[in-house]
Amino acid sequence: MPTIYIETYGCQMNVSDSELMLGLLAREGYVRTDDPAAADVLLVNTCAVRDHAEQRVLGRMGELKHYKRPGGVLGVMGCMAQRLGPRLLERVPQVDLVVGPDGYRNLPELIARAASGERAADVAFKSWEHYEDVPPVRGRTSSAFVTVQRGCDYRCTFCIVPMTRGPERSRNLTDVVREVEGLTAQGTTEVTLLGQTVNSYHDGVHDFADLLRAVGAVPGLRRLRFTSPYPTDFTDRVLVAMADTRVVCEHVHLPVQSGSSRVLKRMLRRYDRERYLEVVAALRRAVSGVALTTDIIVGFPGETESDFAETLSLVEAVGFDDAYTFKYSVREGTPAVRIKDHVAEEVKAERLERLIAVVRRVARGKSVALVGTEQEVLVEGRARRGDLLQARTRTNKVALLEGPAAWIGTYRRVRLTGTSGTTFTAWPLEREPALMG
Ligand code: 5AD
Repeated sequence: MPTIYIETYGCQMNVSDSELMLGLLAREGYVRTDDPAAADVLLVNTCAVRDHAEQRVLGRMGELKHYKRPGGVLGVMGCMAQRLGPRLLERVPQVDLVVGPDGYRNLPELIARAASGERAADVAFKSWEHYEDVPPVRGRTSSAFVTVQRGCDYRCTFCIVPMTRGPERSRNLTDVVREVEGLTAQGTTEVTLLGQTVNSYHDGVHDFADLLRAVGAVPGLRRLRFTSPYPTDFTDRVLVAMADTRVVCEHVHLPVQSGSSRVLKRMLRRYDRERYLEVVAALRRAVSGVALTTDIIVGFPGETESDFAETLSLVEAVGFDDAYTFKYSVREGTPAVRIKDHVAEEVKAERLERLIAVVRRVARGKSVALVGTEQEVLVEGRARRGDLLQARTRTNKVALLEGPAAWIGTYRRVRLTGTSGTTFTAWPLEREPALMG
């Protein structure tokens, strides 16, 4: 049987897309391998959101090409594939196949053709494509990603995604619910709904509030998460649905991008600083104890020192539990390229450093306040180091604890005993009866 190796970069949707590709190829008899040297087909699922992400992939391609066998296939999938298209075939001669996010359905055929020496790029958008009939092959059992919306119709001026993932479309609520029912029947208890602006979900009949309620009612589901929402798409209906739906977890990743209204306007975000703070307050009223994380870009064109100071003060004002922070990266084809006053690289680097320091201090304060509290955690697996187990609270905090491997995939009550600033150590409050002796 032919073997397939997939390496995934970037966001959770890419992880989910790789699971789709594995599903598509499993139907054709492919078997997955974790060893590139043992693979007939090597695929790299890529990210285009920043230049750094693309450079990493190009570097990795230079290594992976050595694993390509005679008659084997090396393919670039995902957003970088979509962005560069046939240019990638020219740039990396060992690449046989370039396929964007809407082209995976043709993968088996494209791979067969590539194996016989035909190099090809498929970067056509298909605004109907949901891969509805493709059962993804998922890596984990207790948790699953479920894509509910593909593409993006927002036009944030810094962002390449509308150009790489095409127009926004939502799956039918009934299809999503059926998929989640299938997952819980196989033992999945935690689901993360995915979409570029996931709370703008609308299938023509149902909105995101309906979706949360419907998925939240699936028997066997214990935790429901979603990412990433757009701040102003938290309608009252959605907030009430979150509050009413017990399984919805107390964590929202709420990308702010900047704390300056002037910069937000240039980014074509649909809110200003005050409106964002209102959304934060509304979320906190609706979901008590909600943890908030965010994405922040520094050095967007025209960002002044005083704009940046507003970003720092916003981090303090909100009290984020954590933040992903980025230096603005010019993306060819995005509107921001034409904005004047690009910020110098050293200034970006220096602002990023200051921002990270504030984010860390604020996050540490949040974490320290949680030490001593009791939490429910889902044990996800072994910790990367040592022989501890890694678990996650409903608020999405990672906690390490001692316990038997049999706990993996189960829920435990723990007390948080210490923190490194972002992650925790925890002590189980209940023991297996067998362990209690
Ligand atoms: N430069 C830097 N960061 C970016 N992001 C998106 N586009 C860019 C860019 N051109 C960040 C945003 C987004 C996250 C996924 O990546 O913060 O929320």
